[in-house]
Amino acid sequence: METKLFYPQQENNAVAEAAAILRRGGLVGIPTETVYGLGANGLNEDAVRRIFEAKGRPQDNPLILHVASADWLERYCKDVPQAAYELAARFWPGPLTMILPRRDCVPLRTTGGLETVGVRCPDHAVTLQIIEAAGVPVAAPSGNTSGRPSPTAVQHMVEDMSGKVDAIVDGGPCRVGVESTIIDLTVTPPRLLRPGGLPLEALEEVLGEVAVDKAVRQKLSAGEKPRAPGMKYRHYAPKAPVTVVTGSPQRSAAYILGRVKAGMGVICFDEFAPLFGGCTVHKLGPADDKAAQAQRVFDALRAFDETDVTAIYAQCPDESGLGLAIGNRLKKAAGFCVEDAGDGLIFGLTGGTGAGKTSALRALERLGGYILDCDALYHEMLRTDAPMKQAITDAFGDVFCPDGTLDRQKLGNVVFRDETAMARLNAIVYAHLVPEAARRAEGHDIVGFDAINVIESGMSLMCCRTVGVIAPAELRVRRIMARDGIDENYARMRIAAQKADTFYYENCTDVLENTEDSPQAFEEKALEFFACLIKEETK
Ligand code: TXA
Ligand code: MG
Repeated sequence: METKLFYPQQENNAVAEAAAILRRGGLVGIPTETVYGLGANGLNEDAVRRIFEAKGRPQDNPLILHVASADWLERYCKDVPQAAYELAARFWPGPLTMILPRRDCVPLRTTGGLETVGVRCPDHAVTLQIIEAAGVPVAAPSGNTSGRPSPTAVQHMVEDMSGKVDAIVDGGPCRVGVESTIIDLTVTPPRLLRPGGLPLEALEEVLGEVAVDKAVRQKLSAGEKPRAPGMKYRHYAPKAPVTVVTGSPQRSAAYILGRVKAGMGVICFDEFAPLFGGCTVHKLGPADDKAAQAQRVFDALRAFDETDVTAIYAQCPDESGLGLAIGNRLKKAAGFCVEDAGDGLIFGLTGGTGAGKTSALRALERLGGYILDCDALYHEMLRTDAPMKQAITDAFGDVFCPDGTLDRQKLGNVVFRDETAMARLNAIVYAHLVPEAARRAEGHDIVGFDAINVIESGMSLMCCRTVGVIAPAELRVRRIMARDGIDENYARMRIAAQKADTFYYENCTDVLENTEDSPQAFEEKALEFFACLIKEETK
């Protein structure tokens, strides 16, 4: 079969031609605001049968009828409750499918043998015009081949359905990106069968109590049946196993970083991509932009088809708003292999010599924090971490002594005179040290990373806050002279070689200034400061 492509933006008769194909029992790929659909006349059994064939879809999986307005409800549904009209008035056209008792004119082939039918009015101007012009309700599942991610752009539709359907209508990329929310109005209380483009919270505003079907969050055990038959099918099965990681974005990123190896795949929020250098990364959108994540979730999954990654880790948004739908699609792709990273807090602390970082760390420790001294960790890893030592040797030659310890002078001779060599060493160290820090942070509710290079290393990405501890230069000079027994000139030289205060103001989320007379007084100030941050971060 030759598949015609319609471009309604440029062709005046595209709508009329697509409608004519539907009326004579043909198949048309149609754009909607959620995902592309594979449409046919929902009242015509033969046409509906062809949908199942083209998709390779199991016969018991019912289709949704797409209508032009709420006025069409009575034609195909009976005993329509008042709530259905209220929902339609508020959310149609839009990403909401209502399950209602079917009238006899709706064939059982369309409803997968059920006495109920799903109805929705899609929010896409072209498709609404096509439905109006056809004058029939359009049965349309998502336009993917069964088992593949739903198509969110016309090229996905072409990929999956070219040669199998009469026509595909190009309506641009899908604005929402996940399928419609399905609410069953035939039961009390109404039951959410599939989370989708309309948040659960929006339904609750109209309906009050809404039950959430178990299949939304969990894998059903053998023999258990979801109320939306489609929810039992794994929607996308990449060759590589997928693990979905829940928890705060910083914690899920740290959790993945602690486990991921070169050659694996990562789906992460945009901000965290720099952490996963050796991996195939697909970005889901900014952590706080669920609309963007919904648009991209199927794309990110589809993108792994062309790679041969051995395993895939995915960061998962929280369940509020569109998060429930995004998380559900990721979890279905993972066969509900879900691990929780928790939402404990990681603070990054940095600051120059003599500014008071040690006192600040002591304060955080008094508040229950686990402090990870990254300089000590670096020196430990120089002794014990074989892969890091090997990488350093590969880059700089034999800089380790026969007893395995680093020959500091030898390495120093190479890197201290050469900026690119220094950058190379730092990159090697960060690539090994940051994942190790992530592993050591696990299981602690409050963590403080004590690291001079907390920003440069990328560690700050795992921190809910990064705190720069600063102090007036004169105070620092006096403190380090007393502490380290050095003269004033040398103290000034050391401070001059370090970062200026502007660095902390520009790169840290918070700056803690130490102007107190004694370390004890500053520690008390820091205690109050961190108690405040913890309160802000946990509310
Ligand atoms: O956003 C959408 O809903 C897209 C676009 C094209 O409109 N359509 C879509 O259709 O996602 P499909 O067939 O891929 O998913 C429909 C889901 C399936 O899980 C199916 O089992 C469920 O809706 N469903 C349909 N009719 C039902 C009914 N009467 N009772 C329970 N579940 C039903
Ligand atoms: Mg589907």
